[in-house]
Amino acid sequence: MDLHLTGKTAVVTGASKGIGLEIVRALTAEGVRVVAAARTITPELRELDGLSTAVTVDLATPDGAAFLVERATEILGELDILINNVGGVVPGSADAGGFLEIADDAWQRTYELNLFGTVRVTRRALPSLLRRRGVIINISSIGARAAYHPVDYGTAKAALNNLTKALAEEFGAQGLRALTVSPGPTRTRNWSAPDGYAADVAAQNGLTLDEFLAQAPAQMGITTGRFTEPHETAALVTFLASPVSGNLTGADYLADGGAIKTV
Ligand SMILES: NC(=O)c1ccc[n+]([C@@H]2O[C@H](COP(=O)([O-])OP(=O)(O)OC[C@H]3O[C@@H](n4cnc5c(N)ncnc54)[C@H](OP(=O)(O)O)[C@@H]3O)[C@@H](O)[C@H]2O)c1
Repeated sequence: MDLHLTGKTAVVTGASKGIGLEIVRALTAEGVRVVAAARTITPELRELDGLSTAVTVDLATPDGAAFLVERATEILGELDILINNVGGVVPGSADAGGFLEIADDAWQRTYELNLFGTVRVTRRALPSLLRRRGVIINISSIGARAAYHPVDYGTAKAALNNLTKALAEEFGAQGLRALTVSPGPTRTRNWSAPDGYAADVAAQNGLTLDEFLAQAPAQMGITTGRFTEPHETAALVTFLASPVSGNLTGADYLADGGAIKTV
């Protein structure tokens, strides 16, 4: 299928590894010119130099968004696609036992990373996206739809879903589309690396990482019996970013192997 993406421009945040890196790979493979943003430029992102341009920026700071969008428009001109992928669980909430152990500071950092960074980048990029009748895809989480731990992360992602719907409504008549993609457990380094989130949870439960990962899909109710691969989520995002999906807006697409059970 020709996705008609050749020559379009995109900004992808949180692009140095995991789902974001795969989104950069998938978009550039379709001929999109991409600015890829993260705090550090990994060798994997560096390998895509020429197809994409890496910009080093901390999006959890008030000035990060303005810097990124200014650099992106210098490099790309007008913007057709914005993928707000940056996000994650912050220290102080990942390792908390529950609601009572999550301090204000952790709540603040969670919202800076998962919501305010996206609010600021979107505000800056919107004039250009409107001129191009563009599309915004915000990477949320199944945590937005159910009461998973940690609660600060889930509530920030739920706010992100609401923000996306509001953008789709307010700017839809001007040609802008806005969507969320909500991954479930996805086999990024956070899950697979010996120093990642899953390794910590495994250790807390007296399991090796391999033992933990073998039982995790069943324990998490993943219907397919396996984690989602980052490139699978990136393929969905690429389709949604394309004109082929031109009448899809205001919706949330699960990429979770069936983990969410409600209709
Ligand atoms: N993996 C999962 O199982 C899963 C499940 C549900 C939802 N999600 C969501 O999917 C998205 C991607 O997750 P992932 O697992 O692929 O993440 P990841 O592997 O941890 O990668 C996160 C990316 O964001 C960048 N980043 C982190 N903090 C940043 C900051 N302050 N400013 C700029 N860039 C920053 C990281 O690079 P630097 O550290 O170099 O900045 C990296 O490129 C997130 O929104 C996450 O909440 C993931």
